[in-house]
Amino acid sequence: MKVLVTGGTGYIGSMTVVALIEAGHEVFVVDSLVNSKQEVLSRIEKITQIRPGFQALDVRDASGLLRLCQEKKFDAIIHFAALKAVGESTEQPLAYYENNLCASMNVMSVMRAAHIPCLVFSSSATVYAADNPMPLTESAQLGASNPYGQTKLMTEQIMRDAALAYPDLSLLALRYFNPVGAHASGLLGEDPNGVPNNLVPYIAQVAVGRRTHLRVWGNDYPTHDGTGVRDYIHVADLARGHVAALQYGVQQRGFRAINLGTGKGHSVLDMLRAFGQACGKELAHEILPRRPGDVAANWADPALAQQLLGWEAQHDLARMCADTWRWQSLNPNGYEHS
Ligand code: NAD
Ligand code: UFG
Repeated sequence: MKVLVTGGTGYIGSMTVVALIEAGHEVFVVDSLVNSKQEVLSRIEKITQIRPGFQALDVRDASGLLRLCQEKKFDAIIHFAALKAVGESTEQPLAYYENNLCASMNVMSVMRAAHIPCLVFSSSATVYAADNPMPLTESAQLGASNPYGQTKLMTEQIMRDAALAYPDLSLLALRYFNPVGAHASGLLGEDPNGVPNNLVPYIAQVAVGRRTHLRVWGNDYPTHDGTGVRDYIHVADLARGHVAALQYGVQQRGFRAINLGTGKGHSVLDMLRAFGQACGKELAHEILPRRPGDVAANWADPALAQQLLGWEAQHDLARMCADTWRWQSLNPNGYEHS
């Protein structure tokens, strides 16, 4: 298939581009580079021996996107391009709504205008309301507690409405749980700007000596050791999930939301221990009060992905930490200074 990947130089997008190329698809990437580097394309080429087509394009540029799609005649779009920092989204809600919603609207409009039948969209476990029973199935109560999460919920709603009005379209929303890990070569990984907000990038920076210790946000949750529990999923598994979703997507019509998670929960202290084993160091931590907005525990029921896509996660925690550590130690300052 000829696949357009928006946000394809980002963390999950770049891993998915590799998986798509390895599965024999022809990939074209657009990215505004607002949160990624063009160097990623050379890394993809090193891994696959193929350099994907690329245009530096903001997906909010409707006419630019339409021109590209009319020229290239894609079979499907995988739409990763979005701003994704939860905290920043509460400080700059308009920038988040504008970027994420305009981008998604343009992608769907262009699908119709350029006759592209299939869309795979990056949604998130953040679309689930806080008080659901675990594990989270796709029919759990929805509700977002910040503007970033709202953009995911709203895009899903627009997809649902578009699917009803335009029955020829196939619109899939993949609800990712907590993506971690890196490419096994150490060539591709997560390269956050500034102080990482997410757990694993923060631990990785402690391990490499850029930060002194992990701040554990609360140890009084009703979990096995009191710290927050999440469903961490290796980004390579997530990438394979997109290839499977594409194969399913081109055969079906209508809207579907599908969880991509492992079905297993791990605590903050479990992660710190596993990472310590991967890097061979004891990593310091300090217990601090809970972070506002966090839930105690959150993990997926991944049965629908298994049923519809024939997909399930394969990599365990040890592999997630080993691959993150290889990436972090080979690229201590991310892409820029490597
Ligand atoms: P990322 O920031 O590494 O990648 C997103 C890419 O989109 C970046 O390369 C950025 O430059 C680009 N981009 C942003 N706005 C754009 C625009 N208007 N036009 C063109 N390019 C634009 O993030 P990621 O972790 O790879 O996330 C990919 C997708 O998955 C996002 O939609 C994100 O919301 C979603 N998601 C991420 C997580 C996570 O924890 N990483 C969890 C759930 C969902
Ligand atoms: N945590 C710490 N210290 C840190 C960072 C995190 O103790 O420095 C804890 C948090 O309190 C939480 C757990 O580690 O218990 C995971 O936190 P993350 O910030 O890594 O992940 P979240 O589950 O809060 O959120 C992430 C993304 C969201 C996405 C969600 C579900 O940031 O965008 O996963 O996919 F929606």
